[in-house]
Amino acid sequence: MSDPTIESLLQENRHFPPPSDFAQQARIASFAQYQELCQEAVTDPEGFWGRLARTELHWFSPWEQVLQWDPPQAKWFVGGKLNLSYNCLDRHLETSCRTKPALIWEGEPGDTRTLTYEELHQRVCQMANALQELGVKKGDRVGIYMPMIPEAVMAMLACARIGAPHTVVFGGFSAEALKDRLNDAGARVVITADGGWRKDAIVPLKSQVDLALQADQVPSVAHVLVVRRTGEAIRMQEERDVWWHEIQQRVSDDCAAEEMDSEDLLFILYTSGTTGKPKGVVHTTAGYNLYTHITTQWIFDLREDDIYWCTADVGWITGHSYLVYGPLSNGATVFMYEGAPRPSAPGCFWDLIEKHKITIFYTAPTAIRAFIKMGDHLPQARDLSSLRLLGTVGEPINPEAWIWYHRVIGGERCPIVDTWWQTETGGIMISALPGAISTKPGSASLPFPGIQADVVDAQGLPVADHQGGYLVVRQPWPGMMRTVYNDPERFRRSYWEHLQTGDGHPLYFAGDGAHRDAEGYFWIMGRVDDVISVAGHRLGTMEIESALVSHPAVAEAAVVGRPDALKGEVIIAYVVLDNQHQPQENLQKELMQHVVQEIGALARPAEIRWTETLPKTRSGKIMRRLLRTLAAGEEIAGDTSTLEDRTVLDRLREGA
Ligand code: PRX
Repeated sequence: MSDPTIESLLQENRHFPPPSDFAQQARIASFAQYQELCQEAVTDPEGFWGRLARTELHWFSPWEQVLQWDPPQAKWFVGGKLNLSYNCLDRHLETSCRTKPALIWEGEPGDTRTLTYEELHQRVCQMANALQELGVKKGDRVGIYMPMIPEAVMAMLACARIGAPHTVVFGGFSAEALKDRLNDAGARVVITADGGWRKDAIVPLKSQVDLALQADQVPSVAHVLVVRRTGEAIRMQEERDVWWHEIQQRVSDDCAAEEMDSEDLLFILYTSGTTGKPKGVVHTTAGYNLYTHITTQWIFDLREDDIYWCTADVGWITGHSYLVYGPLSNGATVFMYEGAPRPSAPGCFWDLIEKHKITIFYTAPTAIRAFIKMGDHLPQARDLSSLRLLGTVGEPINPEAWIWYHRVIGGERCPIVDTWWQTETGGIMISALPGAISTKPGSASLPFPGIQADVVDAQGLPVADHQGGYLVVRQPWPGMMRTVYNDPERFRRSYWEHLQTGDGHPLYFAGDGAHRDAEGYFWIMGRVDDVISVAGHRLGTMEIESALVSHPAVAEAAVVGRPDALKGEVIIAYVVLDNQHQPQENLQKELMQHVVQEIGALARPAEIRWTETLPKTRSGKIMRRLLRTLAAGEEIAGDTSTLEDRTVLDRLREGA
């Protein structure tokens, strides 16, 4: 764990109060109202969350107890029965939402589809019935490896409908990574597509599934349900593979939603941690439903006529919580896009905003920085006046990018919500409420009502204003992860054992460094562990190192992040070759390709640096802090006395 107190502190004094016309109509319309909610949640947390659960969700039967907290084990709404797919679909059929678009979708080739709540409900029921026909029962896990098409959303909701926990694997992950995740989850069925469109090319998903499943490498998988998207020729394995459009013709479009217990497993989503093996973050039904519902409603200030666009892929937590579950639970109209800006259509996001009259736009700082580079003329040539609120997520946003977003995209009229959260937290934890809280460029601002976030030192004591420390959460919240799938011990160790209060209460350790200013605003400084963020994608250095050393030429490897103006961070790998191999340019390329094969293109190192040895402590631990400094081209300051061999640094410098 690195010490966040030595990081330099960002200074930023600009202040943007909520525009008064925005605040007047906002759901949370003043700072006083925000404070009242916080006060209610502090004085009586169970009363606060219980009130919201009662008024905001549909229950088949009520809970007996709001919270059972035996750290780190939390149970929310104990004994209650509900269904997330019911809350996202069925209950809206009884309101004016029935004929309202739930999903407006556009594919990269320009094809579009609109599904009303009624139509989405029918499709989800059909897919739920299809899964049941393939033998999926309540509790069975289902893998989803899909492009950004409506069927991805249907697949998730269909799983939730029949109580089959899903594990969505981002379509950019390799067959190897897919195999590991499917095995860890013990998936019974995989839902995929022949392919998907991304940057004018076809991503061949089904053939990756074939590779992952070959030679019975994932013995739990009995069937693959395949959606036709691109129409490319693919191989269908008899008895195992089934076309969605074929099964769809014979299944009913009615399927009762299973009554799920509040704490029934809803989904597993794999994310990188500090060891080589990704962790299966477990979320359960009721708490996740409530938390994503209420954060979407208040932070995105949802209104009846909003057209809401979150650009995240369904393979990430942002796609789960703020593309699918949160907005649909609120009855919102969600816009979904299959592709990405690309040289043939650099202004496509702005075209889409103009064409579909998007009102709320939520994206990542790395995307914003790429837009800046592409030029102001692209957004300026479009009518973006439908926009009323902007959001960012995934990494700290540099103030210049924030100001550009505010000025060029938001026309200086749209508030920006910079939302801090994690796969583990289920939903947004720190963010402005756009009608109530002034924003400052680069700060995620203040915790959501009911979230007791703090910044502490290594002893768990709160630090002074402007002093760096570890970001922690003091009290449980409904959307929190419940465990690491198959590894409860890792859950305790990773999140609940690092820090505790003076009187021994465990604190949730987020893995981020942060500081607070005099007004209590949080400024996130990035990870303090061996997790890096490349273009907003979270990767563990150990994971990439394991991929590198699985290549026969590599004896040892250490991976660090180097700050990058566009991607936030890029991967620099220090590699020690075994004595059979010589440093060569084509070996560098081969190793990069090897990482792509093991994990996916998102993990490709930007640079591979050869070295004869790695800097290690006397006890043999790689000193990544030193490598990080070297990779950034900075001078090494601070203590190097624990280094086993001090000449290593000089040799590394020369090598660079
Ligand atoms: O380091 C923080 C960064 O992303 C990490 C969580 O990554 P992941 O689980 O993949 O979820 C990303 C989307 C929620 C955090 O530990 N992070 C996320 N949002 C912000 C952020 N860093 C600064 N500001 C943010 N708004």
